[in-house]
Amino acid sequence: MKFTYQNSTKIFFGQGQIEAIANAIPTDSRVLVVYGGGSIKKNGVYDQVVTSLAQHQWQEFSGVEANPTKETLDKAVEIVKSDHIDFILAVGGGSVIDGCKYIAAASHYEGDGWDIFTGLHQVTSATALGAVLTLPATGSESNSGAVITKAETQDKLPFLSPFVQPAFAVMDPDVMKSLPERQIVNGLVDAWMHVCEQYLTFNHGHIVQDGYAEVLLRNLKQLAEQYDQRHNDEWRANLMWTANQALNGLIGSGVPHDWATHMIGHELTALWHVDHARSLAIIQPSLLHNQIENKRGKLEKLGREVFALEQTTDLAERTIDAMEALYNNLGVATKLTQYDGDKAAAIKSVLEQLQKHGMIALGENQAITIEQSRSILEEAIA
Ligand code: NZQ
Ligand code: ZN
Repeated sequence: MKFTYQNSTKIFFGQGQIEAIANAIPTDSRVLVVYGGGSIKKNGVYDQVVTSLAQHQWQEFSGVEANPTKETLDKAVEIVKSDHIDFILAVGGGSVIDGCKYIAAASHYEGDGWDIFTGLHQVTSATALGAVLTLPATGSESNSGAVITKAETQDKLPFLSPFVQPAFAVMDPDVMKSLPERQIVNGLVDAWMHVCEQYLTFNHGHIVQDGYAEVLLRNLKQLAEQYDQRHNDEWRANLMWTANQALNGLIGSGVPHDWATHMIGHELTALWHVDHARSLAIIQPSLLHNQIENKRGKLEKLGREVFALEQTTDLAERTIDAMEALYNNLGVATKLTQYDGDKAAAIKSVLEQLQKHGMIALGENQAITIEQSRSILEEAIA
């Protein structure tokens, strides 16, 4: 176990905390408030932000889509450059926050922002950034990752940089009151998957990371079982905090990671606009079956510690069944149906994208080659 861990994002958690941005952003900043399709205008979040920025000089950019595109974000990059913006305030879910990370990094670069994803540009500075989270799911509010789509070529790729770590994140669970059911479920499933990507590898004996991951999984299982309580303050606060902890860097420090489900899932989103969390539920069970011998020890541990299953020779298989049942009970499908044309053509297009993106040796053992991805997709695509 060897790692360097820092999480510098200041968290303002709880009801009424949006007003904290008044003091969290330096008053001499030129602020760009960035948001999505307008949900914040209907639920009062926009009004709270405007009230809190009364002492600031600010302007806004809206229209960041779910699964944000470079094409849209580049318009904001131009504004940051031309209007000398020195603070970006993201108000939204993972898409808006990720989009702002791209805007922050690309606005400190003279070339095409997509160079960040191809490795042509290494991020060495970025515009300062803060976030008001409106959808608990990705953990983007306090991590240094972002996933951006180039619509023109249907490429959906991640980048990581400490320079785009938000300076602060406001997490007021009241903002969740206006979330559509679909997005609440997506958030719960995405957070679950984030823990799995950092936990379901092989036995390494790092009991802090394992134990903490198991707590988060048990929380999420409980919140799924108590889904009928989703309108309670406590349920909302617990989901918001659990989803944050699932991908704030802590449980992933010093342990092997997988992330193959995410990398294959991103291709389904880029090709067929499958919601991010739902793309993961489609890929993961089939990927776990494919890698079951590599992951048997950890699957058994998850089965015992999270689902309280008895130790049997088929415990790993039963654990995958229990996970699938958890997704299905929330109305999340574990087979892909959203493609035009036949199944063979669908598999071919995903494999071509994986190849193009260099995703040819995925997972903690680099064991998921294009051939393994083919088998995974055979099972995952209906
Ligand atoms: O655009 P608006 O109007 O805000 O509507 C959004 C959007 O339609 C709506 N919404 C958000 N908060 C709301 C609300 N509607 C009503 N009330 C509210 N309080 O929800 C819809 C989906 O929002 P989005 O931000 O796309 O969802 P999510 O937070 O799940 O983010 C998904 C994106 O994050 C990336 C995904 O790939 C995807 O692009 N990820 C980012 C990660 C990271 N940075 O660490 C890790 C993840 O694995 C993930 O890949
Ligand atoms: Zn995710």
